[in-house]
Amino acid sequence: MAKPVNAFTCTACGATHRKWAGKCDACGAWNTIIEEAPLSQGPGRGLGTLKGKPVPLSGLATQDAPPPRAQSGIAELDRVLGGGLVPGSAILVGGDPGIGKSTLLLQAAAAFARSGQQAIYISGEEASAQVRMRAQRLGLGDAPVRLGAETALRDILTTLDAERPDVAIIDSIQTLWSDQIEAAPGSVSQVRATAHELVTFAKRRGTAVILVGHVTKEGQIAGPRVVEHMVDTVLYFEGERGHQFRILRAHKNRFGPADEIGVFEMTGGGLSEVANPSALFLSERGEPSPGSAVFAGIEGTRPVLTEVQALVAPSTLASPRRTVVGLDSGRVSTILAVLEARCAIPFAGLDVFLNVAGGMRVAEPAADLAIAAALLSAREDTSLPADCVLFGEISLSGALRPVSQAENRLKEAQKLGFSRAILPSATKGEGLAGMRIDRTPDLTSFVGDTFGA
Ligand code: TYD
Ligand code: MG
Repeated sequence: MAKPVNAFTCTACGATHRKWAGKCDACGAWNTIIEEAPLSQGPGRGLGTLKGKPVPLSGLATQDAPPPRAQSGIAELDRVLGGGLVPGSAILVGGDPGIGKSTLLLQAAAAFARSGQQAIYISGEEASAQVRMRAQRLGLGDAPVRLGAETALRDILTTLDAERPDVAIIDSIQTLWSDQIEAAPGSVSQVRATAHELVTFAKRRGTAVILVGHVTKEGQIAGPRVVEHMVDTVLYFEGERGHQFRILRAHKNRFGPADEIGVFEMTGGGLSEVANPSALFLSERGEPSPGSAVFAGIEGTRPVLTEVQALVAPSTLASPRRTVVGLDSGRVSTILAVLEARCAIPFAGLDVFLNVAGGMRVAEPAADLAIAAALLSAREDTSLPADCVLFGEISLSGALRPVSQAENRLKEAQKLGFSRAILPSATKGEGLAGMRIDRTPDLTSFVGDTFGA
């Protein structure tokens, strides 16, 4: 057998490489590859027992009907989970340090415990007394949650095996260490091994295990991407530090729709649910102003309206600025190119700044038309009608492509007081009573109709 050699591992995505490199081929991150001791080769290769004997699929449903999902009662969290927590599932909650993961999960633990689940919260970062203090500040002092402060995987597994909770929260995976692995806590091999043990425990014992993972920019600590493929559900807690809004987004979910979002607000008393995010994201909108366009989007299963803001100003730079926050900058470049090539509206010599209000991130191609409208409105210094929403995907030819769930988008817009919508001609459906619908075949006619150019 070949002698195990030290492996080079990417701390961002966990990919292994034969030699060191500045950039990881697998995920494209720079300066994330470090040298680590190899994983153990495992025991001999002989045949094992008949433990993994297959059973017929049809027999499963009747023999082991799955227990129902556990609801926390925090509606925003339950929805992102796909309708509650599936027993025996493994969930990763990632996010930047300080964004509010511990707060959210302590509140979730208390909510699960109050709804009759056995919940245990194990912190590797804070002592039990500190967690209790935080719980008291959040008004959760009396919740029947059990707390642990532990970092040794073996002790954690022993505790969980003895207590058999319904929900176990581990905060965070980067603080755990297994004595089977000779590496520091937070290294790729430790994170991978401890996550694997906990996921296996979840499946075997039917305990739902929630792992917290800090997103790390670079350095010696492995990021949560290393465990993404091991767990059933990956949630990311996003938000801008300067804003009080926090968005919990499902990036992967074996038990529910991906891209579902839950919106929270960080207050002095912890995170509170935002039941109507559209109203919140549009709340800062005042009088109609040039550069503002309202996009009727869909996040997961829910319509969400957001405001796209653009600023276009003469540039003094040889290659003008393109600053994009909350939108995909590749898409923005494409839209600028289509405007120039198909509509003869150049942005050369102009700095372009684009932003989604409220710290929301919009990834849908359906936002193209709203982005183009915001850019044109800023460039022409003309406001769009205040009661108007837009959606539609722009193709490279300048044609507008229809997008899914037009009716849901329109209903949400109407609910928030909008009475007009601009959308692609080919959009299916009749529209809504009391709502004026302007159908546009392509970007050129949109520019003509809206800006009279
Ligand atoms: P925390 O949950 O500790 O973040 P993480 O676990 O993701 O590192 O949240 C820390 C931040 O949240 C901190 O900057 C203060 C803020 N916060 C509040 O604003 N209100 C609160 O009630 C709590 C508990 C925290
Ligand atoms: Mg924390």
